[in-house]
Amino acid sequence: MRSPVPDYLSEVLHTCFGDTSGHTAGYIPELAAADPDLFGLALSTVDGSVYCAGDAGVEFTIQSISKPFIYALAIKEHGLESVLQKVGVEPSGEAFNELSLERESKRPLNPMINAGAITAHTLIAGQGDDGARRDAVILDGLSAFAGRSLTVNESVLGSEMGTAHRNLAIAHMLRSHGIIDQEPAEVVRGYTRQCSINVTARDLALMAATLANGGVQPLTGEQVLTAGVVRQVLAVMTTCGMYDAAGDWVTTVGIPAKSGVAGGIIGALPGQVGLAAFSPRLDHHGNSVRGIKACERLSQDMGLHLM
Ligand code: DON
Repeated sequence: MRSPVPDYLSEVLHTCFGDTSGHTAGYIPELAAADPDLFGLALSTVDGSVYCAGDAGVEFTIQSISKPFIYALAIKEHGLESVLQKVGVEPSGEAFNELSLERESKRPLNPMINAGAITAHTLIAGQGDDGARRDAVILDGLSAFAGRSLTVNESVLGSEMGTAHRNLAIAHMLRSHGIIDQEPAEVVRGYTRQCSINVTARDLALMAATLANGGVQPLTGEQVLTAGVVRQVLAVMTTCGMYDAAGDWVTTVGIPAKSGVAGGIIGALPGQVGLAAFSPRLDHHGNSVRGIKACERLSQDMGLHLM
């Protein structure tokens, strides 16, 4: 790694800043209106040295980056075998909001697409009907990964609920196949609330570093997950985290990752670092354009590629 790290991160940020291609997420009005020029980078080592550049302290909504962490909490609560009954581990090769169910079992193919993430969401806090309790457990759970108390962005939540027809349709399909038992509208409300939790790139770097660190949060020292759960989550992030761009990502950046439509991306390199980028303009897969560019640079410069 070049030194000093903050100057290096700023240099990467400035190099990638000029790429203004892509568009903010169009299907959620609050995200469509985000400042497209925001750009932050953060890196946390597994021993808790955190480096930031640009807008790494600006809050935005976690969106789909919540999915690997909720999948992890579902496994922690129910055990892997039980979660596998409900959600598979195969890449779909399709967009994040396609139904992508396994033909025979009707399980969603993986927990990174919406169908799998909505299912994983229902498993939290006893797999019951108490949505408020599930909301609280999820907010506490994600806060433990970040190492601080996170909050919900009520405007983004309201905005997405106004246009959540596709996720409602997915939840109804899951209910019709007996994959979820709860009321679809309540499930989508809770899942959308999970996606509307505010984070910064710095938070995300620490959340990724917790995965890279075998489940131990680098700053608080809390063992949030066991190493076995982390291995399952990182494996699924590697094959499914970037949706139908997973092949491109794994060949160019080569580390387990997850993106979100607010413009966040995380990468976790086991035993070494958690990375996070935030920039709201997205490519047609729903992944941050500058975020991908910056992660490609970081991977090349620091030799992060696992292969
Ligand atoms: O389910 C949705 O549509 C969003 N709330 C989350 C989607 C998302 O972040 C996809 N990732 N790139």
